[in-house]
Amino acid sequence: MHTGQGSSPWLFLTDTMKIENSNPLQWHFSRRSRQLQSSVIREILKITMRPEVISFAGGLPSPATFPVEHMKAAFDTVLTQQGKIALQYGPTDGYAPLREWVADSLSDDGVRILPEQVLMVSGSQQGLDLLGKVLIDEGSNVLVEAPSYLGALQAFSIYGPIFTSVPVDEQGLIPAAVEALGKGASLLYALPNFQNPTGRTLPLERRVALVEACARIGLPLIEDDPYGALSYRNDPLPRMLNMNPGGVIYMGSFSKVLMPGIRLGYVVAPTSLIRKMEQAKQAADLHTAQLTQMVVYEAVKDGFLQTHIPTIRKLYADQCQVMLDALQTWFPAGPSWTRPEGGMFIWVTLPGHIDAGELVK
Ligand SMILES: Cc1ncc(COP(=O)(O)O)c(C=O)c1O
Repeated sequence: MHTGQGSSPWLFLTDTMKIENSNPLQWHFSRRSRQLQSSVIREILKITMRPEVISFAGGLPSPATFPVEHMKAAFDTVLTQQGKIALQYGPTDGYAPLREWVADSLSDDGVRILPEQVLMVSGSQQGLDLLGKVLIDEGSNVLVEAPSYLGALQAFSIYGPIFTSVPVDEQGLIPAAVEALGKGASLLYALPNFQNPTGRTLPLERRVALVEACARIGLPLIEDDPYGALSYRNDPLPRMLNMNPGGVIYMGSFSKVLMPGIRLGYVVAPTSLIRKMEQAKQAADLHTAQLTQMVVYEAVKDGFLQTHIPTIRKLYADQCQVMLDALQTWFPAGPSWTRPEGGMFIWVTLPGHIDAGELVK
């Protein structure tokens, strides 16, 4: 054995110390991990990475919307003024001023959301995993729209639920079906605004009916809302959270209004659930990076999103129109498609005799 060069403190193995003929390990994967399947999203993202491909398949925000200079200035301010705090460990539930900002921005005249009801997470994707961890047992009944966000199905799947599809039509989820399907279920996962993947928006009357139906049978209603701010024309419809804050679990994200690379989202729920999720989060990653939370707070605290979001809405509205016009011009007779009022998704339905998986290949 030697100690490398000079005063290096590291010890190095010599060739004679290395073990020969080691057999490759046979992994005994946990029963839970066997629920993990290769995500279709990952397969889609692999294709989007190929330089010759312009992909319309994944929910990737347009890089043209990323406020690079604004974020650069926010990083600089935080590191200059509060560097020692920003680079330290932080609380599991999140950076207090940002939790307050989230609570304020979701409060309205009728409903006051408290910072204690907010858990900051490493992208709302982590919120989905934590919800699965604390609410789903093996065999639990979990209600979802069909189709639904694949990333949520993947996050919940590892906890072994049985998924039940709630019927949908052109306007999205049909609330009348929920009471019969949802008795004794663990949760209902819904995407009311510009749904991923269909682009559909749940009308106001259906939101009210859905909240009422879930409240009647004591079914936790998850309102996943990363696209709500990206309405092309009008203000977004009222949140289900504000109709019944005791029965709705709301999930928001900075991914589509700032940038996804910073991995920051939030869950808003009754404090009894938030405290349980906080314990699960502590075990998972202690906390979401203090630095990025402080930088995002710095970036949004003075109203930046009020000027930034309209520019994103306009860009996506224009791009959506280009796509709808192109579908109209170039698609053969047979397929039909949705006409979204916001967000990033158009859903094309092919005639029954065409297999979409084969077509992609
Ligand atoms: C409906 C929905 N929920 C959650 C997420 C995850 O977002 P985040 O980047 O906040 O983890 C996405 C991402 O595309 C999404 O489409």
